[in-house]
Amino acid sequence: MNCAERLVAIFGSQAEVARRFRLDRAVVNNWVKSGYVPARWAMEVEHSTGGQITAVEVLNGANARKPIRLKSRPDGESFFGSTFSGSDMMNEFAPAKRINSFHPPQRTLMGPGPTEIHPRVLTTMSQPAIGYLDPIFVEMMEELKSLLRYAYQTKNALTFPISGPGSVGMEYCFVNLVKPGDKVIVCRNGVFGGRMIENVERCGGVPIVVEDKWGEPVDPQKLDDALMQNRDARLVAFVHAETSTGVLSDAKTLVEIAHKYDALAIVDAVTSLGGSPVLVDAWKIDAIYSASQKCLSCTPGLSPVSFSDRVVEYVKARKDKIHSWFMDMNLLLGYWGATNRTYHHTAPTNSLFALHEALLLIREEGLDNCWARHQRHHTALKAGLEAMGLKFLVKEQHQIPQMNAVICPEGVNEAAVRKTLLTEFGLEIGAGLGPLAGKIWRFGLMGYSCRPDNVMLCLSALGSVLDDMGYAVHVGDAEAAAHSAYASMHAKAAQAKKRREAAKAAA
Ligand SMILES: Cc1ncc(COP(=O)(O)O)c(C=O)c1O
Repeated sequence: MNCAERLVAIFGSQAEVARRFRLDRAVVNNWVKSGYVPARWAMEVEHSTGGQITAVEVLNGANARKPIRLKSRPDGESFFGSTFSGSDMMNEFAPAKRINSFHPPQRTLMGPGPTEIHPRVLTTMSQPAIGYLDPIFVEMMEELKSLLRYAYQTKNALTFPISGPGSVGMEYCFVNLVKPGDKVIVCRNGVFGGRMIENVERCGGVPIVVEDKWGEPVDPQKLDDALMQNRDARLVAFVHAETSTGVLSDAKTLVEIAHKYDALAIVDAVTSLGGSPVLVDAWKIDAIYSASQKCLSCTPGLSPVSFSDRVVEYVKARKDKIHSWFMDMNLLLGYWGATNRTYHHTAPTNSLFALHEALLLIREEGLDNCWARHQRHHTALKAGLEAMGLKFLVKEQHQIPQMNAVICPEGVNEAAVRKTLLTEFGLEIGAGLGPLAGKIWRFGLMGYSCRPDNVMLCLSALGSVLDDMGYAVHVGDAEAAAHSAYASMHAKAAQAKKRREAAKAAA
């Protein structure tokens, strides 16, 4: 059956297809007669059939029946005189199959990142390119830095987005701060602590590892003990929100302990920034990095970093050459510093426009409202998941609202559930990593993906899939639990507002 016939089968009649797509019946009749759905309807078809017919199938079907002709003049008539064109010499290296423009399907992204990108951010990204030293761009860079300082709650002058994903931000911190032979205390309670150890080793440092169980926060006492036993350690590194397990560690306390022993603290805020409080100045964090594609609702590929003045002096005072040219703080300052910008690398300008817009959205929403939104939708999602009988990996007091790790029930095929959610509901959730592979699901509620419609879709889709697989769940109970959580949060917020207004009137 071709896509046109499948559409009719799904919706019952050509008339119904026409109604759904707001088309004349004759148009749909023509699709059926010609045996394909035109490529421009690909996304709409995937969306309206809930993924039963994917956009790619529509595109392939349309292309098979009506291939796109790209040639504007016959073979051999190249305007600039080459006699080799079309089917000869260079075609030896051409792709084996016909390639069409890429049209990603519309997905609901509720995994560990990337998250859905806010429409305003998407629009901003598609603005015309300008040069990375254009005065208008340079002005935008200063605004971007100030918006980042707001997101990080810091006055650190050195706060900017490094070009590259979160892993580049991580390497930037280690490569600038770790000298060969330096002892670094690294706290590991999941995947990303492990990557920090790798970074220390690759910088020639000596990692002293403080281990905690996956799913538990970093134990401050263990860090204190490690520093006590390693008085010469000058650095401490830990992950604030461990994405692999959904656990939040107490960054303020861990930094305090590092400072008690005169060590500097490197903090991974890839998953926490924008979703949970990250107070760089109040917690006296020395070096921190994050990523654009999680709670900032932006495209992947940028890593906001911030160094305190003390760290900047520490790096400037290094006598040895920093082992990465690209990530050398001193060289990057030539481009991102406040004055006299010079070429360092070609900055990803359109992605930087996008980050500017994404941070502006947070500024407009208000950072505290943004944290509260993550908490609110987490509370509703959790109520629904628990009503299905599912259990969280992490104890309630250490859970991160934006990353919900849930144990896959005995006898349920973890991977099959994720696959069905993706193919039938266009919903992406995350799998477990390392020792948790096959044992947990990770439901992200980050940035623009953190919305009530996503919470409700997730609960009903997951409930239906589990039910189909023979795991006894009552989808209605899960939805009712989430609705009731929302209702009680609304009622509490309304009461609090009333009290505030009454107090204001009385004052
Ligand atoms: C806590 C944490 N640190 C670092 C990274 C690496 O970031 P990226 O994938 O953007 O390189 C991730 C990615 O998920 C993360 O969750």
